[in-house]
Amino acid sequence: MRLAFIGGTGHQGFGLALRLAAAGHHVIIGSREEERAVKAAEEAEEILAEHGYEDVTVEGRENSDAAAEAEVVFLTVPFFAVIDTVKAIRDSLDEDAIVVDVTVPLETAVGGKPTRLIRPWAGSAAETVQSLVNNPVVSAFENVSAESLRDLEKEVKCDVVVCSDHEDAKRTVMELAEEIPGVRAIDGGPLENARIVESITALLISLNMRYGKEDVGIRFTNL
Ligand SMILES: NC(=O)c1ccc[n+]([C@@H]2O[C@H](COP(=O)([O-])OP(=O)(O)OC[C@H]3O[C@@H](n4cnc5c(N)ncnc54)[C@H](OP(=O)(O)O)[C@@H]3O)[C@@H](O)[C@H]2O)c1
Repeated sequence: MRLAFIGGTGHQGFGLALRLAAAGHHVIIGSREEERAVKAAEEAEEILAEHGYEDVTVEGRENSDAAAEAEVVFLTVPFFAVIDTVKAIRDSLDEDAIVVDVTVPLETAVGGKPTRLIRPWAGSAAETVQSLVNNPVVSAFENVSAESLRDLEKEVKCDVVVCSDHEDAKRTVMELAEEIPGVRAIDGGPLENARIVESITALLISLNMRYGKEDVGIRFTNL
């Protein structure tokens, strides 16, 4: 599939781009500045080549151009930037494109703590995004750490809860998630459940800080 990572120059988008390029997808890293995107794409290709993925192509484009070319568009920008970012790219989206919201409304968006959330008016970051586009929005990957995504030597040992009101889009994103070694995709139900999933990230950040870790994740049992 053709996958775009809006803000893919950052930690989370770059890690997801690496993993899904390694899985064989055509990856486009987006940035507000095309030059930054191209540089990140080159770095991704180098890292992938070092790990034996020689034939992968990662491109870099300005965010709207990246969005225009993709079947699945991942939003990986800080929450405070997500509304402006979606408004900037939404007219470029293919009408069938799936939008995957990875953003978490941490209190840092308003100068607060990363261990606390703010509550967006729509209920969650993902529902905020769905209120701005007609495309199906899927919430996923909020509970996966960028550090674990980036280290291609290791499996990403966690469950990824996927929520959406669009079943086909949800299935597509669950299949993509399971292409990342170690990841199990969980059907998290409707998009409104993103309110709960996003809040888990604040808890994981708190656990990372308390236990001196960078990659605490979640696993559900007996499921
Ligand atoms: N880091 C994690 O472990 C992690 C885990 C789960 C979820 N998340 C979520 O994923 C999202 C991205 O996290 P991150 O750690 O990757 O963030 P980041 O590295 O701080 O930022 C990602 C990218 O967003 C773009 N950006 C920054 N400010 C912007 C603005 N004002 N307007 C538009 N674009 C802007 C930048 O790209 P350009 O400057 O190239 O445009 C930047 O490289 C966040 O919502 C976060 O809560 C992160």
